[in-house]
Amino acid sequence: MTDDIKKKLKLKVSAIKDGTVIDHIPAASLFKVITILGLDKIKNQITFGTNLDSNKLGQKAIIKVSDIYFENDEINKIALIAPNAKLNIIKDYEVVEKKVVEIPDRIVGIVKCFNPKCITNNEEITTCFRVVSKEPIALKCRYCEKITGAEQISMK
Ligand code: CTP
Ligand code: ZN
Repeated sequence: MTDDIKKKLKLKVSAIKDGTVIDHIPAASLFKVITILGLDKIKNQITFGTNLDSNKLGQKAIIKVSDIYFENDEINKIALIAPNAKLNIIKDYEVVEKKVVEIPDRIVGIVKCFNPKCITNNEEITTCFRVVSKEPIALKCRYCEKITGAEQISMK
């Protein structure tokens, strides 16, 4: 078998001409990544595959968004749920850049505060946390100052 055929067999989701490929997403986080990036609200062409075999993750998902290049702070929002995600920037069918996601210093929205009495759980207020530790993750709420840790993280 030629290398070209091997590469095509490997490609479960068609190549794109221009845009962003987000690879190595844990399969269980695919739909959350779609919502966090607002991909459910745009008109661009999007293809994705999930439950694909991955050496590193067991089962992975991949998203390909045509004609969009994300800002770093936009893409870093997915770091909490897809810490190993790899971004590939595609221009005229070629991978011109690869990026990894990084947990930001501040997280606005997305995550729920762990404290049931926190104002953000009782009124229409967007959550805001300072990342006090990245490994393991610990988030300090701007409103009640309680720490939400790795085990307690849930998405809004
Ligand atoms: N890709 C794409 N469209 C293109 C070029 C690449 O959808 N025109 C996708 C590939 O399918 C792959 C990802 O972008 O999922 C990265 O491409 P490439 O670097 O060629 O693949 P790998 O070497 O397998 O990447 P890595 O091992 O870094 O994940
Ligand atoms: Zn709080």
